[in-house]
Amino acid sequence: MKAEILALLRANDSYLSGQELCRRFGVSRTAVWKVINQLKEEGYEIEAVQNKGYHLLHTPDVLSESELKSRMNTGWAGKNLHFLKETGSTNIDAKRCIENGEPHGTLVVADRQTAGRGRRGRSWESLSGTAIYMTLALKPDFAPGKASMLTLVMALAVAEAVEESCGLKAMIKWPNDIVVNRKKVCGILTEMNMETDYIQSVVVGVGINVNQKEFPEEIRETATSLALEKGTDIRRAQLIAAVMAHFEQAYECFLINGDLSGLKEAYEARLVNRKERVRVLDPQGEYEGQAEGITDTGELLVRRKDGTVTAVYAGEVSVRGYYGYV
Ligand code: BTN
Repeated sequence: MKAEILALLRANDSYLSGQELCRRFGVSRTAVWKVINQLKEEGYEIEAVQNKGYHLLHTPDVLSESELKSRMNTGWAGKNLHFLKETGSTNIDAKRCIENGEPHGTLVVADRQTAGRGRRGRSWESLSGTAIYMTLALKPDFAPGKASMLTLVMALAVAEAVEESCGLKAMIKWPNDIVVNRKKVCGILTEMNMETDYIQSVVVGVGINVNQKEFPEEIRETATSLALEKGTDIRRAQLIAAVMAHFEQAYECFLINGDLSGLKEAYEARLVNRKERVRVLDPQGEYEGQAEGITDTGELLVRRKDGTVTAVYAGEVSVRGYYGYV
């Protein structure tokens, strides 16, 4: 009921009568009053005027289960949702959700992680109050070889959602970093759990720098937050709901085509170093070329000096801009 009242308050520009709320939910005035008080305690500014009702004056950047549920506007992505004040890693929680029989599209969101994981075995700093740490748990029934493409599907969804919610131009550093003004604002860690020859679950973990105002020395040059780039704070719950809506749409397109062909154009339009010189850090030998685009299955196409085009697989290989991270 709390999430529904919140959604109604948000949708309503004028006053929402207490009586109307009682009628709608079939509860007493005291029950409604209790929910309103809980919301106030969570930081919402709600005005109560006699004979008129309730009016939402201000929503701070609250991250809670009811705030998230009140904003979720999808068919399945993020519909089943867990919010945790603190956890080890949401990727591990999401995997456990599927093991426990929870549905495809279950989303785990945390305000803080104590063992946040990044790609290549690195850790992901996960302090409370300012960032997004979330993992979407999927139970796809396609071949395991396709799972890595979901990382690119999510990258596109995050970029589109950032643009829609914050009005910032969000680009993608292949395969799955989101950059704003050529600095990283989001990383994605996809992990697959296999059962002999089928996928038991794929968990897509997303870390977004939202309202941080500073970064540790080691990453100051390459990382930024949405708030730093925009100049104002952003509501995390709203952005999470937007990512889910864009992911759901992109995923349906991915399923219909069986690959990224339907999303390629949109992805390539956001490829940050498209037509730029890049260095491919391949353990077999480093080389340089020009990034051209991606294949239908998500490899990066790099044109070398001799004109040959190589499809670069993610995984072991990383790609750098000529002068630095992008
Ligand atoms: C990267 O190295 O760029 C990927 C970072 C992914 C971080 C997210 S935060 C939510 C989820 N839980 C984790 O432990 N990692 C991912």
